[in-house]
Amino acid sequence: MRYVVTGAAGFIGSHLTEALQEQGHEVVGIDCFTDYYDVALKEENARGFDVLRADLAEEDLDLAGADGVFHLAGQPGVRSFGDVFDEYVHRNLVVSRRVFERSARDGVRVVFASSSSVYGDAERYPTPEETEPRPISPYGVTKLGCEQLAYAYARSFGLEAVLLRYFTVYGPRQRPDMAFARMVGALARGVPFELYGDGLQSRAFTFVADAVQATIDAMERGSTGTVYNVGGGMEATMREAIAALEDVSGRTLGLLERPAARGDMRRTAPDTTRIERELDWRATTPLEEGLQAQWQWAANRVAAS
Ligand code: NAD
Ligand code: UGA
Repeated sequence: MRYVVTGAAGFIGSHLTEALQEQGHEVVGIDCFTDYYDVALKEENARGFDVLRADLAEEDLDLAGADGVFHLAGQPGVRSFGDVFDEYVHRNLVVSRRVFERSARDGVRVVFASSSSVYGDAERYPTPEETEPRPISPYGVTKLGCEQLAYAYARSFGLEAVLLRYFTVYGPRQRPDMAFARMVGALARGVPFELYGDGLQSRAFTFVADAVQATIDAMERGSTGTVYNVGGGMEATMREAIAALEDVSGRTLGLLERPAARGDMRRTAPDTTRIERELDWRATTPLEEGLQAQWQWAANRVAAS
């Protein structure tokens, strides 16, 4: 197959591109290398493949000969209050509208990277997809808006879209603003980690290879117009995750306790019945194993620098 991956130089997009190529597919990667985090990291992510540099808010997506679009380009990060919201609107809503319109016009199927942050503090745990979404971060509002745009384009223009709500994805190359990336970086350098809140907030942490496989399964077998939770396996609090990382690394992580971050959910835990039943997918990487892979990756980079 010939696939387009938007956001190919990003954390998840680069792993997805590599996995698709390993499975024998042809991939056109697109990214504009935003400076949300160090561009050198994105260049490193994309070292093994070609990426077309294009800002999808400005330039049209070329879908000639494409069998599907994995739309991962966007502005991530739940800590999104204030004027930065303009970037979220631009890179999530504006870009997704353009990607959906072009894909509908060309009859190309889309898998879209949505987020567990659409749920906010959910009324039910584990949270099934039909739970009323009530995002508590501006980022989550834009991701929910993108989902709604996909439905609007499906209804009026026949867009074939599958929507994935990823739950806190981690592993090698994780974005440097995310907790585990900061934790392994702090441990490797021997500096403390800033823990937001009491550390009892919990996440269904999802290893990147598992998230990537769900993404490919969704393209191959997902029902058009359906949203799937892509999450976890095992839920852990931040304090449990820190203890697991200390075990894995054999080191102790110094903590600087900071106030809870605005927009931060207290808990995320997906009900994965739908994706298990329809796509036969489940997360298979235990937290300790995924943390070991991320720790090894970070420790090697620090040793080499
Ligand atoms: P990332 O920031 O590493 O990757 C996103 C990429 O999109 C970046 O490389 C960026 O340069 C690119 N991009 C942004 N705006 C663009 C534009 N206008 N044109 C072209 N490229 C553009 O983030 P990630 O963690 O890999 O997340 C990938 C996607 O998955 C995002 O849409 C994110 O919101 C979503 N998501 C991520 C997580 C997670 O835990 N990492 C969880 C839920 C959802
Ligand atoms: C992550 C991604 O950043 C979002 O892009 C994504 O949409 C979201 O997952 C999702 O699942 O939808 P988050 O769960 O906040 O968001 O992931 P982290 O940034 O890794 O934070 C995890 C926890 O660690 C949060 O409670 C956060 O407050 C805390 N944290 C984060 C710290 O204590 N210190 C830090 O330096 C960073």
